[in-house]
Amino acid sequence: MIHAPATPASSLAPHAPLRRYYADERQHRSFVREIFDHGAADYDRVEWLMALGTGSRYRGEALLRAGLKPGMKVLDVAIGTGLVARQASEIVGDPRIVLGLDPSAGMLAEARKNLSIQAVRATAENLPLASESFDFLSMGYALRHVSDLATALGEFHRVLKPGGVVCILEITRPQSRIATTLVRWYMRAIVPLLSRLACRGRGSLLWEYYWDTIEACIPPQRVMQAMTDTGFVEVKQAVQFGIFSEYTGRKTDHHGDTEARRRSCNLKEPHAEAQRRRE
Ligand SMILES: C[S@@+](CC[C@H](N)C(=O)[O-])C[C@H]1O[C@@H](n2cnc3c(N)ncnc32)[C@H](O)[C@@H]1O
Repeated sequence: MIHAPATPASSLAPHAPLRRYYADERQHRSFVREIFDHGAADYDRVEWLMALGTGSRYRGEALLRAGLKPGMKVLDVAIGTGLVARQASEIVGDPRIVLGLDPSAGMLAEARKNLSIQAVRATAENLPLASESFDFLSMGYALRHVSDLATALGEFHRVLKPGGVVCILEITRPQSRIATTLVRWYMRAIVPLLSRLACRGRGSLLWEYYWDTIEACIPPQRVMQAMTDTGFVEVKQAVQFGIFSEYTGRKTDHHGDTEARRRSCNLKEPHAEAQRRRE
């Protein structure tokens, strides 16, 4: 039986400390909580302008591509104002089977205003939830903000049921230099401008910090390696429009066999086996 371990081998910071904003890891955690607390009320407006109104639809399509289906029990980590959780609720068909989670009280307050789903205050690295309780786990645009990605992935693996799916959405640097330069210009010059418009002149440190974390983030290969090291199988990165990365993986089922492995080893599915025995 190939039941993969859910405990991470070692810690993994998604990026080196960004000293322009904070000095060490302890300050990093409170810095991240504060910028999201302060940016919460304007987040949806800036996000809408930044993605030209396409963000919600894109999130829903990404969840469908990852295999989210009606009736699945979902944990949305880093719920923010609820942009991913809203799409998840629509797809599963019942908001009562979607749970949101976020360390920022400001973000949670917005999520509770926008949606009638349960939401708890916690971090990805320490989920106050029972093991093997969700069919699907999503995390939208928060990979860069966790303190320890290896611990977070270990927690994701623990709370997923056997066969459950993890779907991590993130912005990643484009492959080509020209595209990187264009996106950098958009994120450094245009997005802060849009954020000042949306925040009625107040400006927002959040949107300056946003691109700096994208530039500093570990490469996709390292993220996928960490997912594999955690015990996820069928780990993939799909990239849309050159910058929107969708990392997906599956926790092995009770038999240690995923669909792909069954097919590649020409194994019979457990229920087909049972049927054969009955005949
Ligand atoms: C850019 S927002 C994304 C919100 C939402 N998922 C979306 O798609 O719009 C990032 C969110 O990650 C949350 N966050 C930061 N550190 C976190 C951690 N360690 N664990 C879970 N969430 C975290 C922030 O509070 C914030 O709400």
